[in-house]
Amino acid sequence: MPKHLFLALFILLLNACNPPANRQDRIDLKVDSLLALMTLEEKIGQLSLYTSDWDVTGPTMREGYKEEIRKGRVGAIFNAFTARYTRELQRLAVEETRLKIPLLFGYDVVHGHRTIFPIPLGQAASWDLKAIEEADRIAAEEAAAEGLHWTFAPMVDIARDPRWGRMAEGSGEDPYLGSRIAEARVRGFQGQGLGQLNSVMACVKHFAAYGAAQAGRDYHSVDMSERMFREVYLPPYAAAVHAGAATVMTSFNDYDGVPATASKYLLTEVLRNELKFEGFVVSDYTSVMELIPHGVASDTASAAALALQAGLDMDMQAGFYQSALPQLVASGKISKELIDQSVRRILRKKFELGLFDDPYRYSDTIRERTTIMKPEYLDKAREVARKSIVLLKNESVLPLSKNLGTLAVIGPLADARREMIGSWSAAGDWTKSVTLLEGVRAAVSPATKVLYAKGSNVNDDSTSYFQQALRIARQSDAIILAVGESASLSGEAASRSSLDLPGVQQQLVDLIQQTGKPVVVVLMSGRPLTINAMAQRVPAILETWFLGTQAGHAIADVLFGDYNPSGKLPVTFPRSVGQVPIYYSMKNTGRPLDVNSKYTSKYLDVDNSPLYPFGYGLSYTTFAYSDPVLSTASLRAGDTLAVRVNLTNTGSREGVEVVQLYVRDLVGSVTRPVMELKGFQRVSLKPGERKEVTFFLTYKDLEFCRIDGSFGTEPGQYLVFVGGDSRDVRQAAFDLL
Ligand code: NOJ
Repeated sequence: MPKHLFLALFILLLNACNPPANRQDRIDLKVDSLLALMTLEEKIGQLSLYTSDWDVTGPTMREGYKEEIRKGRVGAIFNAFTARYTRELQRLAVEETRLKIPLLFGYDVVHGHRTIFPIPLGQAASWDLKAIEEADRIAAEEAAAEGLHWTFAPMVDIARDPRWGRMAEGSGEDPYLGSRIAEARVRGFQGQGLGQLNSVMACVKHFAAYGAAQAGRDYHSVDMSERMFREVYLPPYAAAVHAGAATVMTSFNDYDGVPATASKYLLTEVLRNELKFEGFVVSDYTSVMELIPHGVASDTASAAALALQAGLDMDMQAGFYQSALPQLVASGKISKELIDQSVRRILRKKFELGLFDDPYRYSDTIRERTTIMKPEYLDKAREVARKSIVLLKNESVLPLSKNLGTLAVIGPLADARREMIGSWSAAGDWTKSVTLLEGVRAAVSPATKVLYAKGSNVNDDSTSYFQQALRIARQSDAIILAVGESASLSGEAASRSSLDLPGVQQQLVDLIQQTGKPVVVVLMSGRPLTINAMAQRVPAILETWFLGTQAGHAIADVLFGDYNPSGKLPVTFPRSVGQVPIYYSMKNTGRPLDVNSKYTSKYLDVDNSPLYPFGYGLSYTTFAYSDPVLSTASLRAGDTLAVRVNLTNTGSREGVEVVQLYVRDLVGSVTRPVMELKGFQRVSLKPGERKEVTFFLTYKDLEFCRIDGSFGTEPGQYLVFVGGDSRDVRQAAFDLL
């Protein structure tokens, strides 16, 4: 009997006589039995992920790849979904290969699968962890019903440079908010755990520090201090890993001179040894191949060896593992044990998903038909969308009456169905999205006449639509003006050097505003834009990001007051692109701003302050804060500090306020940020109602990367701030003993 067969039988026998009590151990035994039967080629197959193509009928597979699946040389496929199609591919793997190892199917389900929710940056503006989790729960339900086992999300990259178009895919600039959202999203995707038919594996990306691309240019180098990495960029990945994320994706960038995909420091020391990550790591697309242009590998073999040795388990699309690993093992440059380690991690997930019990369990056409875009999913999409809207300015214009005589809806994004679902819109069908114009028409009274004009294109120089827009503006009682970016101006490979409104849109805004009519700008964008001129002249502005399938209805809910806006910016809005990177938790510097003194830290041509700070967002009501009261003036190790404020709704409408808690460590062994978010709560209040809001702070919340690199606290004085954004706060002080 061949040695491997004997070994497999032996393991199985052991298993049968003495079955391990715990599920993970049982899975490990099965993995080992299977591993013992596998040839090197089959093992390397498990480490290889390839994309499906697209044609008019949907996802489709080249004959060559199908042949590879039949040979057992493919472990996973991405961009493949629908019950029928995944079933067809799975059949090749489980009926035509020697060992019948099922395939994994992955896809970029980033903000919804069929029912599209707001872009992640928009969802982050809701500061509503429950709503975000529920959105991803629905995304998982839909994706899993279409044969998918795995989403390439959440993206948890901190981003402080809006030139970087992928800011749209993350949760903004702050590690605390980013970490809480990262956890919520992992919970949302993975639900009650892998193997449940309505959950998919999460893939935390892009590990690591991808959001700090120099000059905001996508794929560019990242170089930062270890302190910055550990305090700001690492926490959301760590939070997602600790929330149980099944997989991690590397990033395209180099970090401190080493491409992430070849970084033993990132993939093994930090991810495995420190964060105790136990799932598998996949490359971002062809990043194994990209080790050559990065200039750390000269050929296929050295690239594959570097990546595997660093700790990369699965090669997406490059095919380098497949072409180079056999020879690397034969020559002894790569050990069989290293290959086995990665194969084990991948097989474990296939067992956990239940694919060995039934490889078709996710590819169920009936479930697919009954799960996609259910009415309750659309309701949830509308709810999350309206919670994501941020009211930036309102000089008594909003909410609009539903009974206006004539209302003009103008702008290149006013009736732009395709744009509503934003970038990375998975299998979202843009033809089903609701435009702003439709949302407005559905909301107003039958007597209101709604006029529409495009006004301009998003991104060209033509002013030929201006006159028509002006004509209808003059006939109207109020104007809703939808301007901003098209969906393709943010997302991957969509960096911009300017944050201004593209094309002639600012001219359009000026023209319409000069009519003297009440104007509400509905801004759509995947990033903060520089909108100083607009902010000075236009009386009302709503930031609506790209809100997804229900965009038009959600915006109308806010415009006409059916929903009182509660969103808060998860990212700072600069006044000028020259201020970037600008974020609220900056350092004080040795020469903090003094407008009367030249040699202080500032610009000659623009204020230091942002146009709109992190955490900012207005409501149709107003809130008043009391000064924070602390439970103790000195916090000892092991104790908890309670911070209490009274919040009163001082306006005439019911509303939700996102109460934010920040701290400042006044003196440390290293310089500390002027503010750091440490807590937030969404509080709903009726007019005149008052509630006490309590936050608890412990030593753990105050840890930072000290001068010796260790994490911990230092005794000293702290300030605590509470308020409705990072600029408008009330403070108290305590000592950390
Ligand atoms: C490249 C992107 O960077 C990544 O986020 C995505 O998951 C993969 N392509 C697969 O589509």
